[in-house]
Amino acid sequence: MSTAMDVLKFKVNGKEHTVGSNVSSDVMLVDYLRNYLNLRGTKYMCREGGCGACIVTASKTAGGPFVSVNSCLVSVGSCHGWEIKTIEGLGNRKDGYHPLQKSLAENNGTQCGYCSSGWIMAMHGFMESKKEATMMEVQNAFGSKPLRCTGYRPILEAFKKFAKDAPKEDRLMSLLRT
Ligand code: FES
Repeated sequence: MSTAMDVLKFKVNGKEHTVGSNVSSDVMLVDYLRNYLNLRGTKYMCREGGCGACIVTASKTAGGPFVSVNSCLVSVGSCHGWEIKTIEGLGNRKDGYHPLQKSLAENNGTQCGYCSSGWIMAMHGFMESKKEATMMEVQNAFGSKPLRCTGYRPILEAFKKFAKDAPKEDRLMSLLRT
């Protein structure tokens, strides 16, 4: 049964949010982001940790490192003190797109687009934890992210370019450090 919460505070895309007793403790982070903050770039499908459409990144310490989080599995009650990043905070039309967003688009990896934010945030979390990943490690990181419509190939092409052993002419790893 849901219960009212004491006040919780966490940051989303750098902005502090206070969650009071008007929000039930069983509201999941994905629903809070979408329905209370109107951040609809975070999607959902299975709501049980299987598809990865809902992935955001989060850090328990100011400024990161950020790790991938399935926002359908986390209640807002668990987020006190966290810094959360959504696809809107990673990059957007107004402030400019993140290199991971640009590469996915340029390599036709967006497909229908529904899973793209989850893919990008999953890769953002992966790259934060593994600064110098190899192409094989990027490929293996796909194991926790099954949702896509037509195939993995263009998504893999987009993200492999951030590996340290990507062909020199394709390599984009340095862009993640700027
Ligand atoms: S909605 Fe599928 S993993 Fe969260």
